[in-house]
Amino acid sequence: MALREIITLPDPILRRKARKVTNFDGDFQQLVNDMIETMRDAPGVGLAAPQIAVSERLIVVEYGNEEDENAPLKLFVVANPQITTASEEMVEGIEGCLSVPGLVGEVERHHSITVKGLNRYGKPTRIKAEGWLARIFQHEMDHLDGILYPDRTDKVWKPGPDEEIPLD
Ligand code: NI
Repeated sequence: MALREIITLPDPILRRKARKVTNFDGDFQQLVNDMIETMRDAPGVGLAAPQIAVSERLIVVEYGNEEDENAPLKLFVVANPQITTASEEMVEGIEGCLSVPGLVGEVERHHSITVKGLNRYGKPTRIKAEGWLARIFQHEMDHLDGILYPDRTDKVWKPGPDEEIPLD
């Protein structure tokens, strides 16, 4: 495994529409492993391949349970993710992004979603997510279409020293 460099704005790769993953070979497995390692090292709760300058539709997410701090973290690896259902209910929340250093913003997201895609071995997978987990998935999937959270809000600011925001 190897750490990869996380690119930041205004790198144009972050603005590209990423291409579908079609090959789940050894190089792809290496990419997945590197993304997990890079996300954990950052540390972040999610990472999309374009953030390491790989313009492919691949995200990794690692998150626990917002109601139980001691719950084990759960790791998700999804290629070609798509939202199949989304709640009408929208919620405001504060997000940061490893590719937009030094800022956070308040962003409206669906409260709950269902995501379908392929796991790291190319097998179909379906994930139901709500709350912060749903937010992380929506943030990561935006990266695959070249969208960054400041595109979705006017409320962006430099966080104070006590504002701890998970980054993805
Ligand atoms: Ni991000």
